[in-house]
Amino acid sequence: MSHAAHTAAAPHAATAPPRPAALLVEFDSPGALLTAAEQVRDAGFRRWDTHSPFPVHGIDQAMGIRRTRLPWIVFVAGVVGCTAGLALQWLTNATSAADAPPGLWTIFQGYNYVISEKPALSLPAFIPVIFELTILFSALATVIGMLAMNNLPRHAHPLLAHPRFRRVTSDRFFLVIDADDPQFDPARTRDFLGQLPAAVAVETVPEDRSPTALPRGVVIAILILVALALLPPLLVARARLSKSTEPRIQIIQDMDNQERFKAQQAGPFADRRASRPTIAGTVARGDLAGDAHLLTGRVGDDWAAAFPPTLEIDLRLLHRGRERFGVYCAPCHGYGGAGDGIVAQRALRLNTEGWVQPTSMLDATVRDRPVGHIFNTITNGIRSMPPYGDQIRPEDRWAIVAYIRALQRSQNARLDDVPPEVRADLR
Ligand code: HEC
Repeated sequence: MSHAAHTAAAPHAATAPPRPAALLVEFDSPGALLTAAEQVRDAGFRRWDTHSPFPVHGIDQAMGIRRTRLPWIVFVAGVVGCTAGLALQWLTNATSAADAPPGLWTIFQGYNYVISEKPALSLPAFIPVIFELTILFSALATVIGMLAMNNLPRHAHPLLAHPRFRRVTSDRFFLVIDADDPQFDPARTRDFLGQLPAAVAVETVPEDRSPTALPRGVVIAILILVALALLPPLLVARARLSKSTEPRIQIIQDMDNQERFKAQQAGPFADRRASRPTIAGTVARGDLAGDAHLLTGRVGDDWAAAFPPTLEIDLRLLHRGRERFGVYCAPCHGYGGAGDGIVAQRALRLNTEGWVQPTSMLDATVRDRPVGHIFNTITNGIRSMPPYGDQIRPEDRWAIVAYIRALQRSQNARLDDVPPEVRADLR
């Protein structure tokens, strides 16, 4: 080994015996190792270890090894990861680029995606990233902490150069006391180890003279890797801080850049429209206009005053109406129908020019409208309200009308709407 070559080349090293790095005792059975470990533990040694070809049951106890402190390190790393995940998203999503101090901070700022009027600082939406970072930090701390607490990685160890120690991987058991141990004394410790029962041999492990510095090639490789790893973040930072007139590089094209016409663009057809109108007289399957009352809300030339007789007005229909109303109408008219949906609120907040307030479903005008008229409002729209006939099936439109009637009644109830048995409770 390099150790032997080294001592041979330096003559004065041969005269001065090498400082012992440790003392080693060899055993030929796990039982002997266990008993010896208990004695060494009781003698109060602190820096020592046992080595065996296979795990020996009870060796931890015999050596008096305490529980590892690694879980605490992992816990702290997890808390740091959790905080980092929160801080990252808070910085990027909940602070605007305008408030950011100039400089590198702007890399983070200004990704405030406000979705469905959720607040920019929305904890439930942050949970996945927080969770992932907590796991990532804990996992890294587990691996790195385990290596650090074991003084690893270590590319040379005096024991590995000792010829006797080689049999540790096949059939021998060793107990090694480090020369760094506060109780270590070359002669006295040697005697102590010699009297251990069943000790096959006690030997001095000479100090390891192999170079301790990392080989130069490894250092250079690490430096190159670190430099390469810095490249992507630097490129990202440059892209964030500089302006360019070139279009973005799009590596995954999907179908983003294919030839196409947008709905209102001039198209290649003779009438210059991009999309084709439906052929006159087309009727979707099952939509053949048979029942005028059901499909148009009209009876003869008048608005129908009653629901179509083919429709059963029951709780199921009202539930359906409430659900559809929540989907199609509530954004403008509000869930209670009072004209205060989030679209209306936002338009008012932004002072949108030409904004027409959605009518309250509870107004006398709407209360006095025949059901057929409200049905027609949904189908074809009215004044500045867009039509929804294409999106909502006729039965569902009637269900919505029925639900509107329920909303109106809930706000304008009369005494005879209250069941007689509970009327006495009202004042
Ligand atoms: C995009 C916003 C918007 C949506 C969605 C919307 N409405 Fe309207 N609605 C309006 C506005 C605005 C008015 C008032 C129009 C005006 O006065 O010019 C209105 C008026 C009405 C009226 C009163 C019409 C009258 O008789 O004078 C009714 C009834 C009505 N909407 C029902 C509905 C129903 C039912 C739905 C769901 C299918 C719905 N609206 C969806 C914006 C909307």
